[in-house]
Amino acid sequence: MKKVLSLVLVLALAISLVACGGAEDDNVLTMATNAEFPPYEYMEDGKIVGIDAEIGAAIAEKLGKELVIENVDFDSLIPGVQTGKYDFVMAGMTVTEDRKEQVNFSQTYATGVQVIIVKEGSSITTADDLFAEGANNKIGVQLATTGDLYCTWDIEDEGLGTVERYNKGADAVMALNSGKVDCVVIDNEPAKVFVQNNPGLKILDTEYAVEDYAIAVSKDKPELRESIDKALGELIADGTVKKIIEKYIPAE
Ligand code: ARG
Repeated sequence: MKKVLSLVLVLALAISLVACGGAEDDNVLTMATNAEFPPYEYMEDGKIVGIDAEIGAAIAEKLGKELVIENVDFDSLIPGVQTGKYDFVMAGMTVTEDRKEQVNFSQTYATGVQVIIVKEGSSITTADDLFAEGANNKIGVQLATTGDLYCTWDIEDEGLGTVERYNKGADAVMALNSGKVDCVVIDNEPAKVFVQNNPGLKILDTEYAVEDYAIAVSKDKPELRESIDKALGELIADGTVKKIIEKYIPAE
């Protein structure tokens, strides 16, 4: 009798485990991004579009999942993926040593360059001008991006200038337009879009840093990182990623 009872219990437990697993493994994949970063992700007619949105959709399709994209502040992307609120982050996100301690990354799918935007005629002409003793520039960045991190370490912490942090890259550019900051440090592709939309600004022909973009996944979900990485690898190999990038960044 006891044996039968324990068998029933074991079976009940097994069934409930399977049921739970099924519920967790639903058909939706949630991608978090910060749609302030054209041409990787931006709003158009109330929809999130861009390179990352399209690659994300192609990955979800390969995995047989429905993609839901959430638009959040850049500094809540990593915390959100860590707590399991989002399945992955795709946001033109640079792989850095610090972030590697917080999340797992896929292989990289694009390169970014931190560039410097100034007003035409600015006395800042190279990256070195920012690090000069007594330079004392005000540098606009998007909060928590690598532009923010590098300028904070290299310039603010060294007492060579100050960093003004904005929630959106476009707000940093507006601050440059109105003379609140002396330059903006930001990724090259959004920089091109912002400069195109703002006459009187230009991008300096100098590279602050060259970086790799990748997809971030929680350290608690190694299998998910594996399957996303595999799907991304296939999309790179068959030319889909290249095609999507060239759709948004026509070769010069
Ligand atoms: N590549 C930079 C970083 O990872 C900036 C990315 C900003 N992306 C965005 N969607 N706003 O920090």
